[in-house]
Amino acid sequence: MSTKGNDRGLAVVTGAGQGLGAAIALELACEGFAVLLVARSADALDQARAQAAAANGGKAFMLALDLLAPDAMARIREAVADTGMPLTCLVNNAGQGLYGRFADLPIAEQHRMMRLNMDVPVMLTHALLPLLRQAPRAWLLNISSMTAYGSIATLAAYGGSKAFVLRWSRALGVELKGTGVRVTCACPGSITTGFTARAGMQAMDDLAKKFGTGPEPVAKTCVRAMLKGRAEVVPGLLNRITAFFQQVLPAGPVERVGSGIYLKRLG
Ligand SMILES: NC(=O)c1ccc[n+]([C@@H]2O[C@H](COP(=O)([O-])OP(=O)(O)OC[C@H]3O[C@@H](n4cnc5c(N)ncnc54)[C@H](OP(=O)(O)O)[C@@H]3O)[C@@H](O)[C@H]2O)c1
Repeated sequence: MSTKGNDRGLAVVTGAGQGLGAAIALELACEGFAVLLVARSADALDQARAQAAAANGGKAFMLALDLLAPDAMARIREAVADTGMPLTCLVNNAGQGLYGRFADLPIAEQHRMMRLNMDVPVMLTHALLPLLRQAPRAWLLNISSMTAYGSIATLAAYGGSKAFVLRWSRALGVELKGTGVRVTCACPGSITTGFTARAGMQAMDDLAKKFGTGPEPVAKTCVRAMLKGRAEVVPGLLNRITAFFQQVLPAGPVERVGSGIYLKRLG
């Protein structure tokens, strides 16, 4: 594992205790960023923090909090200030899925997911953008999903929230052109993390195992695209081909086929 010191400034990564967020934090540490990892579970965060610290010479910090808490944004700003380092990168990764028919899923759970997937990145970016803009070069990486490219029955609110992240990121990237802040939106396909189990997607497990990849290669592709200043990235060749056809073929038939697979599994 190559380490490049920590001269690239500080990166805040949300949802960094496990899964894709932990892998992105480690990748950023290897690329020379100091990292501030945010999630709820202190134990998981501490493990991920130690791995990142081993990769970047010790500059890894953690903040255990619920991103939906009313004071979350203020506490993250404080934690950034406490590091004494310039903020140069924000990764909005924390997210949650929910699998099922819209009418059958509890609305409170769906709303909570929508807040985590949409409100949190918007609020946090707004809170930290002034700091990012102080740096001569800075990066914003938003984690969306391939579900952003087409509606899928059983993932209505999740897919909608990820489509929001993609559209918001594209517009933000245009608005920030000419500033030092580059915006990248990543739209991964299936990643083998605890995500599907938490989303209640056990019925899709065999497909996830067959077509999914571990978080490490996905993190590598996302960070590489971010550092190159690419506006959008779909990790994995098969996913890129699928996303291409999702965007050029008529949405109706494509979405009916995709939705059919998910509905059949739901039973
Ligand atoms: N896995 C996939 O197949 C897949 C595919 C496409 C896109 N994505 C997207 O990739 C991102 C990461 O997914 P993943 O697979 O790594 O998920 P994951 O394994 O479930 O990890 C989610 C992370 O977010 C944290 N988190 C959840 N709720 C939080 C809250 N309220 N406050 C603070 N932290 C919170 C979790 O830690 P705590 O529970 O300790 O807080 C955990 O560290 C998500 O945005 C997801 O939508 C995933």
